Amino acid sequence: MGTSILDRQEHCTLSRGAALATVCVVVVVCTYATSSPAGDVGKEQKYNIWRRRSPPGFAPDDELEVALRGAAYANRTLILTVLNEAYAEEDGLLDLFLRSMREGDGTAQLIDHVLFVAMDRQAFRRCRSLAGLRCYLLRQSDGDDDLSSEQLYMSDGFIRMMWRRIRFLGDVLKHGYSFIFTDMDVMWLRNPFPKLDRGDGEDLLISADKFNGEARDYVGNELNTGFFFVASNGRTVALFDEWHAARRASPGMKEQDVLNRMKRRGAFRRLGVRARVLNTARFSGFCQDSRDAAQVATVHANCCRTKRAKVVDLRAVLRAAGLLNRTAAGLMRWPAHSECVRSWT
Ligand SMILES: *[C@@H]1O[C@H](CO)[C@@H](O)[C@H](O)[C@H]1NC(C)=O
Ligand SMILES: *[C@@H]1O[C@H](CO)[C@@H](O)[C@H](O)[C@H]1NC(C)=O
Repeated sequence: MGTSILDRQEHCTLSRGAALATVCVVVVVCTYATSSPAGDVGKEQKYNIWRRRSPPGFAPDDELEVALRGAAYANRTLILTVLNEAYAEEDGLLDLFLRSMREGDGTAQLIDHVLFVAMDRQAFRRCRSLAGLRCYLLRQSDGDDDLSSEQLYMSDGFIRMMWRRIRFLGDVLKHGYSFIFTDMDVMWLRNPFPKLDRGDGEDLLISADKFNGEARDYVGNELNTGFFFVASNGRTVALFDEWHAARRASPGMKEQDVLNRMKRRGAFRRLGVRARVLNTARFSGFCQDSRDAAQVATVHANCCRTKRAKVVDLRAVLRAAGLLNRTAAGLMRWPAHSECVRSWT
């Protein structure tokens, strides 16, 4: 079983003399192959990676395909999150995110299905230094963009990073993978999969800042792109293409506002995308706290401007959630999100 991997590594070495672009691709593929979890389990996974078939149109060594296949469940579903250097720093959002996943209710087993998409080398390096994470380096196509520092809400860098992310997510859909996308400032207190009901075969389940009580009213609810599930199909591929293409006509707007504008103008209906809004009772956030902590799967530090404020207030949420138990659950009060409230002033 080791033969195919060996062949690839040899191939990798040989290719170093070839054209620069080829070398880059091959080196990253090899880096990925050697960065899987160590030990027998890791070997087994590598074996599966190379042996399973890739979808039509994608070479078996398509770097993204390899990463997606490694993280996905058999039903071609995985969890995606994006990090940059500022998010990856020690005692920052990455660490809080991981702590919530490791200690949440039924969430620890999900970590193996999360692909951590690094926007810069520093974030990639930090990701790789943490045991058991699947890390993927997203290269910036437009060259000298440095998106490693904290990208303050609505700064140019913030907006560029958001659009790069949308293009990447569209690529994932084109590869035939469905996913939960989660921002790293979303704490996972419980496994959200059982709460993502797709009874009507919805293509998109998406969180909202405030929930108006009507899950089908995706037009009336202000959608939040920090947490959503999207199924891969022709409709959602078209939606993401259109969404990304709309950035040129929307200078200074963030992707979330563009999506909300598209839906108001009837894009979902036109493309046949079936969407449902996630109730803040289960997919909670700082804009509108769930009133029933026992139901909460995730808590998003939305309505918050700076990373520092998010870290302080999310830490308080984790502390409070650590006290959660079935008897106390209905009684739990969320801590005030005072740093986030102050972050706007
Ligand atoms: C895919 O499989 C996983 C593991 O069995 C499950 O938790 C998840 O709900 C499935 N996803 C979808 C979209 O069916
Ligand atoms: C759970 O919460 C109840 C009510 O607050 C409390 O009496 C009990 O000691 C808690 N149990 C644990 C194991 O923390």
